[in-house]
Amino acid sequence: MSTYTLDTATSRAHPTPVPMKRLTVPMLQERKGVEPIVMLTAYTARMAQLLDPHCDLLLVGDSLGQVIYGLPSTIPVTLEMMCAHGAAVVRGSYHSVVAIDMPFGSYEAGPAQAFENASRVLKETGAAAVKLEGGEAMAETVAFLVARGIPVIGHVGLTPQAVNVLGGYRARGRDDAEAEKIVADARAVAEAGCFLLVLEGVMEEIAVAASKAVACPTIGIGASAACDGQVLVTDDMLGMFERTPRFVKRYDDLATRIGEAAATYAAEVRSRAFPTADQTYHRTK
Ligand code: KIV
Repeated sequence: MSTYTLDTATSRAHPTPVPMKRLTVPMLQERKGVEPIVMLTAYTARMAQLLDPHCDLLLVGDSLGQVIYGLPSTIPVTLEMMCAHGAAVVRGSYHSVVAIDMPFGSYEAGPAQAFENASRVLKETGAAAVKLEGGEAMAETVAFLVARGIPVIGHVGLTPQAVNVLGGYRARGRDDAEAEKIVADARAVAEAGCFLLVLEGVMEEIAVAASKAVACPTIGIGASAACDGQVLVTDDMLGMFERTPRFVKRYDDLATRIGEAAATYAAEVRSRAFPTADQTYHRTK
């Protein structure tokens, strides 16, 4: 993967010339067994700018419900939220494929509902693909979308939109029946035409079996290093939350660093140490 340096000095969303051509869905599809796919979530233009040079795919995940909006789960996330954040991430990126999560209730009723809403998402955001949760029950919908020009990422195993059916966010596939069902789900949506498949919160043996069973690249989250790529929620990876699931590796501790910066700012405002002459305008004589 080639990387570029984006001049973010002005935080402009549209540097000229545009630094490079964007990766495409077929380019990612061809990566199975070639080079691991790097995927992170992004919800804002600025975060997209920072992540884009290092990633192959930016996912505007419905995890924005908890991360951005402080909601208790992904269930209340709306199509309007996904479109607004999706458009921002597309504006802030030049290199990565951008994919948008279809929120709960926007696709499960059937292929026609899914097409209407997924086409709206692509039109309003400029993203290249959508992701939807579910296995065998979603295979017909995946095939319908793909046949009509909408690239789809599948998502099986722990599917957070099904939290009320699953009863929580525990890793899946602890017994044989559940393990076999997850591999069958993976096979079903892959054969229906998904170009990538997210395997979330599954026992490693299942991730390995599913990765072998499907022709498209698999992307693990709480799954296995043997997947064809990995995804994490960026805010988890950056240490923005005190509590993270066991499968998250924290690459920074931003929550602590932001708290420290805010405390220093507050102290300087209260002591009138900020602003100094450096941050103050004066009339020139
Ligand atoms: O919503 C999300 O961020 C996701 C990823 C964790 C795969 O679905």
